Amino acid sequence: MDHEPVLGELEEDPSLGELYKELQRALEAADNPNGIEEARVAFLGRKGKISSLLQGIKDMPADERKRAGRLANYLKSYAERALEERASSIGRLELEKTLRREAADLTLPGKCIPRGRRHLLSQIIEEIEDIFVGLGYRVVEGPEVELDYYNFEALNTPEWHPSKSLQDTFYVDNPHGDYNDILLRTQTSPVQIRVMEMTPPPLYVISPGKAFRHDVPDATHSPMFHQVEGLAVDEGISLGDLKGTLEYFAKKMFGPERDVRFRPHFFPFTEPSAEVDVSCAMCAGRGCRVCKGTGWLEILGAGMVDPNVYEFVGYDEERVSGFAFGMGVERIAMLKYAVPDIRHFFDNDLRLLKQF
Ligand code: PHE
Repeated sequence: MDHEPVLGELEEDPSLGELYKELQRALEAADNPNGIEEARVAFLGRKGKISSLLQGIKDMPADERKRAGRLANYLKSYAERALEERASSIGRLELEKTLRREAADLTLPGKCIPRGRRHLLSQIIEEIEDIFVGLGYRVVEGPEVELDYYNFEALNTPEWHPSKSLQDTFYVDNPHGDYNDILLRTQTSPVQIRVMEMTPPPLYVISPGKAFRHDVPDATHSPMFHQVEGLAVDEGISLGDLKGTLEYFAKKMFGPERDVRFRPHFFPFTEPSAEVDVSCAMCAGRGCRVCKGTGWLEILGAGMVDPNVYEFVGYDEERVSGFAFGMGVERIAMLKYAVPDIRHFFDNDLRLLKQF
């Protein structure tokens, strides 16, 4: 391409030379895509300087028209080309700038996104559920705000029982009935009554949930805590079945070396009743600080369902028998992981929660 002679001629031309130089300055000044577009409109737009020049040519004297037309057309195509080249070099520069600005070092380690997890107590409850579901039990739930009837009366608990006192139970204001009709359940046992009312035997259920007692918080007491209730009613169920079931549970939960022992106890709704201990996992039964030197840790209350309870739910006590148990979830978690204070579960301190 041999432009140079024509460019020289343009530069020298008395009427086009100035316009040519102006175009050069505009090209140099445009340093971004907008500037290029402005320059294009200023020179090549419908009313641009070069377009107006070309329109004026037809009015020129004939002897000048040919030369002026040739130069002006040349200027036009030169401007088009020069604008395009400038635009693409600016594009390259912009791209380089962006690449430098957004450069990423792919060898840097990634950001660690913190992952949530289930609360330790939820994990323990799930573990307990899994063990009993594996034995054919069904998981059921009941309300946390309960009627006196389900929490006490139908569980064969007499009016004078100490657990009914204001010192032990949270009662809920009830303007429509006796003021101690409605309460926060003190145990998960009322769910036993609710399921039996709705379902004929045989019945194998567990029921996890919250329970509430008017306790001052300390290392082993919390006014809100969790229990898992268990109930099995069928024909011919014996104390041996209860023992076997709880032994199986304890070994699954705490390890195959664990032993279980029953101590006679009293609950209004079971007869006979027992408190159940597992051998201490910390010292393998030799006696340590956790088990207070006894080698045993209490994990639950249990017993054979009292026939009086069957009367409340319309079960035939001559035909069926069964057992019930209730375990403290916090207690199991504390024993399994040597957590020294029940309040830790509710402080929401991530340093504790993150360990599980
Ligand atoms: N509900 C009793 C308690 O909270 C535990 C229990 C449940 C005992 C079932 C016997 C049978 O102490």
